[in-house]
Amino acid sequence: MYRIAPSLLSADFARLGEEVRDVIASGADWIHFDVMDNHYVPNLTIGPLVCEAIRPHTAATIDVHLMVKPVDRIVPDFAKAGANMITFHPEASDHIDRTLGLIRDSGCQAGLVFNPATPLHYLDYSLEKIDMVLLMSVNPGFGGQKFIPGTLDKLRAARERLDAYEALSGRHILLQIDGGVKVDNIAQIAAAGADTFVAGSAVFGAGRDADPHRYDSVIAAM
Ligand code: DX5
Ligand code: ZN
Repeated sequence: MYRIAPSLLSADFARLGEEVRDVIASGADWIHFDVMDNHYVPNLTIGPLVCEAIRPHTAATIDVHLMVKPVDRIVPDFAKAGANMITFHPEASDHIDRTLGLIRDSGCQAGLVFNPATPLHYLDYSLEKIDMVLLMSVNPGFGGQKFIPGTLDKLRAARERLDAYEALSGRHILLQIDGGVKVDNIAQIAAAGADTFVAGSAVFGAGRDADPHRYDSVIAAM
């Protein structure tokens, strides 16, 4: 089963509620919510107040991708704001196990995010507390960048690892990809093992003002 998670980063920030409703009505599965702090990454976006504001507009999973440092103190605010999944970059947390526990104790699912050059060894002692692994296929901070091809090998390695874990534990961990996902490369990315696809510019770039069906064809093509 595959999931499409449009990234609000490329949506029209002046009418986010409508963007959320329309993209889900077009067949998207999740809303990907990119949080940037101008410290861990060189850009500044949206926080818990905006999450709370979009929450009434959809029943879909709100997938919060934290690109912030430190991580822990913002986690309860996102849980209260209605986040369902919270992922963070292990380099940004001093205590990865504690942060994973904090996310789960707050009632959300938890995931680790790997930058293009971050090794997968952070999975070694954390799989039991992880619900999703997110591989970045661009360096985090901006939408509209090009997919880094080396991520395909990394996806295959992560897929093997998660399949082996599932065979032992019976627990399925999602494998998400984020950055440069387009209609014309998504099949290749799926073949490498991803099951959950973030797409920002590819989805919201297809927008035509006011047409409630403006995302139908791009979501259908993914
Ligand atoms: C980048 C963000 C992505 C971004 C993807 O730091 O994490 O979610 O919105 O945008 P596209 O799909 O345009 O590469
Ligand atoms: Zn993201």
